[in-house]
Amino acid sequence: MSETPTQAAIRAQQLRELLNHHAHLYYVLDAPELPDAEYDRLFQELQALEQARPELLTADSPTQRVIGRVLDGFAHVRHAVPMLSIRTETDTSPAGAEAFDARVRRELSLGETDAPVEYAAELKFDGLAMNLRYECGLLVHAATRGDGETGEDVTQNIRTIKQIPLRLLGVDAPVLEVRGEVYMRRDDFEKLNERQREANQKTFVNPRNTAAGAVRQLDPALAAGKPLSFFAYGLGEVQGWDVPETHSAMLDAFARMGLPVSTDRVVALGAAGLVDFHRRIGEKRDKLPFDIDGIVYKVNSRALQARLGFVSREPRWAVAHKYPAQEQLTRLNAIDVQVGRTGKITPVARLEPVFVGGTTVTNATLHNLFELRRKGVRVGDQVIVRRAGDVIPEIVGRVSVQRPSYVANFRMPAACPECGSAVEREKGGIDHRCTGGISCPAQRKQALLHFASRRALDIEGLGDKLVDQLVDGGIVSSLPDLYKLGVAKLAALERMAEKSAQNIVDALEKSKNTTLARFLYGLGIRQVGETTAKDLARHFGAMDKLMDASIEQLLEVPDVGPVVAHSIHTFFAQPHNCEVVEQLRAAGVQWAEGGGAADAHGPRPLLGKTLVLTGTLPTLARDAAKDMIEAAGGKVSSSVSKKTHYVIAGEEAGSKLDKARELGVTILDEAGLMALLNSH
Ligand code: IVH
Repeated sequence: MSETPTQAAIRAQQLRELLNHHAHLYYVLDAPELPDAEYDRLFQELQALEQARPELLTADSPTQRVIGRVLDGFAHVRHAVPMLSIRTETDTSPAGAEAFDARVRRELSLGETDAPVEYAAELKFDGLAMNLRYECGLLVHAATRGDGETGEDVTQNIRTIKQIPLRLLGVDAPVLEVRGEVYMRRDDFEKLNERQREANQKTFVNPRNTAAGAVRQLDPALAAGKPLSFFAYGLGEVQGWDVPETHSAMLDAFARMGLPVSTDRVVALGAAGLVDFHRRIGEKRDKLPFDIDGIVYKVNSRALQARLGFVSREPRWAVAHKYPAQEQLTRLNAIDVQVGRTGKITPVARLEPVFVGGTTVTNATLHNLFELRRKGVRVGDQVIVRRAGDVIPEIVGRVSVQRPSYVANFRMPAACPECGSAVEREKGGIDHRCTGGISCPAQRKQALLHFASRRALDIEGLGDKLVDQLVDGGIVSSLPDLYKLGVAKLAALERMAEKSAQNIVDALEKSKNTTLARFLYGLGIRQVGETTAKDLARHFGAMDKLMDASIEQLLEVPDVGPVVAHSIHTFFAQPHNCEVVEQLRAAGVQWAEGGGAADAHGPRPLLGKTLVLTGTLPTLARDAAKDMIEAAGGKVSSSVSKKTHYVIAGEEAGSKLDKARELGVTILDEAGLMALLNSH
């Protein structure tokens, strides 16, 4: 240890302050100023320092958001000040706000000529209430509401929430209890469920239940896997802190202490101000990144709050003004399937129309067969439908009641409802897919775009909008139709000039001369990316041989495994797919058989070599470099590993370059790459 104990202590203190400051910028203000890597470096420096000198460790050190041990149960905590709830106004119309204001004015004996009451209006977050106890600025306890008198000590889990400061800024009051809501953001919830679905695991019902489950999770490692957030909105016990005179000023003070406070709040005057806020937030409710179930109105002045007092454990000075619920019960009338643009077949619930989250919902996704089975829903069941934000409505479960025994369980159809092709599930996968590919109308637009894309047939000008026009107008329904397009037909389309039409016809003409690899890739066979297409072209050399290949023959291709082989075989087993190939040939599309000219001829100095491209090269575009490497027999990979032979680095190369240095991989610039390509 080169530093003296004092120097080390000063440095540790500096690091803690720096890290806490940047964590606040990152997690609370969403305005990071430090690159992640630099934050990590400082964090590691502090960790090392604390390890070397354990006496330097403090409770507010950012290294102490550690995942603790598994608990047997939670200790009970008696709240110094009871955690109350608020009265709910269920009339979701403006009348709800007007009734509250009228009641407050009456209680305060205000007459018609008296000034309007000032309110703090804020969001009603849909999570669970939490009491954070800070002593001398340090987080010492976190407790759930429980029955309002006694809650559970969930400190260990709450400390893992990065938005919650372990030390308040500029506060050393002996006691300051901050109350607020722990919740889960919708995107975090969706990501979590997406992960669950991928792992074929049970999905979570809604963000609120998931947050509540995470907080009350005895194993903190499991809790930490469910990202939670927090908003402060109230006060518990206070000793030695001058509480501001208004609720809104108190929230401002919380924000200055480093606590997350929602910015969607106003000081509103009278009923009109409340109604306005309720309407404004109602309009943007779907776009908020988290669920809310209403607005909370609070009399802003603490003096007036004291005058109003409480009635049966509810403050007279606050009310929750609801919005239409985001979950509702309804009847499941039927289960159909829908074919997506990638061929994925999704079971869709047809529902008895129900008003949820502000709109009438008649359909909801059931995601996949396995999720449907896990939820155990059958036609005729009463189901819970959830619609929150812009997310598509979902069935979260069913109400268990006896159902007639004759209701059959749902089965995936054997044939695609759009095109009649076989429906298949990949081995080990959870999604069912239509094998129709290019001949399935649901997949048509996607298939056309893919066929025309730069690394396939490279048809310049055939983009999203044009494909929409062509398919929706019934002008193009299969790949061969593209080559029937003439200038007149194209120029007749809306917003299409004669010149552009001619350009597209020229581009189509040009695309007819291609390579077998590009053509194969362009067909959009599942599992056949560019590299596989090249491998196949090289191995079979001719389209007909590939189309006739058995699974065993396909497996002989280097890097083709059972899943890929099966996918190719199924594709060519569908007569309409073979027809498409024939029609394209008839339209004049031709390719140099034998894997493309570049592959078949010339020296291959990079055979068996794997290269990684990173950063911007001075003259070569990424695709051009890739083409040249592959033409020379090399492979381009996207990540650096011990198996990488060369890393070609350009301007602003990032972590891949660091990784290459770390692993001792040879690093070359563009000139070095050119030298390699010319070495034979
Ligand atoms: S104030 C004495 N403000 O709603 C007032 N509560 O029944 C105490 N909630 O348990 C609550 N957002 O979990 C308050 N902005 C907000 C809130 C809020 C959500 C929850 C909280 C409480 C329940 C009220």
